[in-house]
Amino acid sequence: MLVVENLVVRYGPITAVRGVSIEVGAGETVALLGPNGAGKTSIVSAVIGLVPSTGRVSFDGRDVSNLSPEERVRAAMTVVPEGRRVFANLTVAENLRLGGFVRRRERDQDGERDRYLAMFPVLRERLDQLAGTLSGGEQQMLAIARAMMSKPRLLILDEPSLGLAPRIVARIFEHIVELKKSGITIVLVEQNMMQALAVADRAYVLSTGTIRHAGPAAELRADPRLADLAIGGH
Ligand SMILES: Nc1ncnc2c1ncn2[C@@H]1O[C@H](COP(=O)(O)OP(=O)(O)OP(=O)(O)O)[C@@H](O)[C@H]1O
Ligand SMILES: [Mg+2]
Repeated sequence: MLVVENLVVRYGPITAVRGVSIEVGAGETVALLGPNGAGKTSIVSAVIGLVPSTGRVSFDGRDVSNLSPEERVRAAMTVVPEGRRVFANLTVAENLRLGGFVRRRERDQDGERDRYLAMFPVLRERLDQLAGTLSGGEQQMLAIARAMMSKPRLLILDEPSLGLAPRIVARIFEHIVELKKSGITIVLVEQNMMQALAVADRAYVLSTGTIRHAGPAAELRADPRLADLAIGGH
């Protein structure tokens, strides 16, 4: 469903991603792992069209490399950005509506909204609350629900567990499993390797902009080199 070929991302003199190739099949959950600065967010940003890159990004057999981020969302790929980035001064309901704005008709959104309010009941109780006043875990749930309102077939989650208490992280991962069961294709970016590998089918491990290891999640979990890979060793 997603094919990334020889992706290179440069920021001035810095090369953050050095020729990365990734494939994600329909219905798969694929983890993108690696330490701080490995290039994970740069890959995600390039895949969704938010930073310039060279190489090729294809989605559903179609080259999307030259599409704008909005056109890519319309093509049914979407990202839950690192740090959540909900619209703090808008209410929960308004955030959800914005997530669905690429859908043509407003009333088409209702069924979708009900579905994600059922999944995240905490949001239903807070529809009129400003998103900026939600707790970190609630903001992450809103960010996921907002992304799902665009009816993606590919959902990219950039470090959904970042800065959250272990109990909340466990709940976020339960929700990811629930989304996975619904059949959506997921790319899960995480530093939290063990937890990500527990829900992923396959994983790529990056450091300094290069893929160091790729394989089935179960295999990686048992790999004695994992601790080393987690801190950027080869
Ligand atoms: N906008 C930018 N301008 C310049 N350099 C950048 C920019 N964004 C990222 N970088 C650099 O690119 C490299 C990769 O950063 P990136 O954010 O992709 O890593 P990451 O794997 O997502 O890290 P983290 O786990 O900390 O989020 C880093 O060296 C970073 O300093
Ligand atoms: Mg990042």
